Amino acid sequence: MSASTSRTWKTRLFTATSLNDYLARSDHSITWLTSPSPNPSHAAPSPPERKTTPTFEQHMSTVDFIVMGRQTFDVCLSLPDWSYPKDKELLVLSRRMDCLPVDLMVAKGLRVSGNGNGNGKVRIVRSIDEVKRVLDAEVNRGRMVYVDGGQTAREFLRRGWVDEVVLTVAPVVLAGGGRGLFGGLGPELEAEGRRDLEYTLVGVDVIENGMVTVYYRAKDDGKGEMGETEDE
Ligand SMILES: NC(=O)c1ccc[n+]([C@@H]2O[C@H](COP(=O)([O-])OP(=O)(O)OC[C@H]3O[C@@H](n4cnc5c(N)ncnc54)[C@H](OP(=O)(O)O)[C@@H]3O)[C@@H](O)[C@H]2O)c1
Repeated sequence: MSASTSRTWKTRLFTATSLNDYLARSDHSITWLTSPSPNPSHAAPSPPERKTTPTFEQHMSTVDFIVMGRQTFDVCLSLPDWSYPKDKELLVLSRRMDCLPVDLMVAKGLRVSGNGNGNGKVRIVRSIDEVKRVLDAEVNRGRMVYVDGGQTAREFLRRGWVDEVVLTVAPVVLAGGGRGLFGGLGPELEAEGRRDLEYTLVGVDVIENGMVTVYYRAKDDGKGEMGETEDE
């Protein structure tokens, strides 16, 4: 792990899972999230004037950088439209991707220049240390970094680098395999001698289709990890 955890930027995980922690089925399908089976018995959504959790648009308005795992990037490129605002800096975390898939990206309207290896808004980054170097150098103070993808989120969580969590939980336990958000993280934290990661509840809303969104902020936000330097 990196030698120093000192950082001046903050991150937010904004994502959705099934009740059993899946971000997606093994084949990447998320229809359980985008078109769940109708159930008129669900509790009604929280009224808009009482909402206490950010919408995706409100979240994105605070974000300049997205750090996304290569698996999530591939899925996003396979969808008809790019799911994120195109003016954001995007760091795609990958050890194995040789170069950016420029044709696919251009088809989605993403800005690519040169040979596609880092001159546009989208860059490949090869390690968490490299991610940190870019964020340390380029994120403006007060702006959020959006962390996306399960493995990628766990890499950040392991380092205590997730300052805010906006998590939507869908009322379904999925059968079969899937791509987990937190799965396996507990033993990893313990093996590395880390403490529990405690969060403060900021808000909670019922949204459509019986889903619930919870909004948490790291309990030691502003006092602990943000300014510390640790040798690991
Ligand atoms: N439900 C939701 O809201 C939601 C949100 C986001 C994603 N998803 C879904 O979740 C799935 C993807 O999540 P995931 O957990 O499978 O993967 P992911 O985090 O998106 O991507 C994992 C990949 O990131 C790279 N990577 C991870 N750690 C690295 C490190 N330390 N250094 C360098 N590269 C590293 C590796 O790429 P290489 O193999 O190229 O080396 C690895 O295969 C997709 O199906 C996506 O659609 C759902």
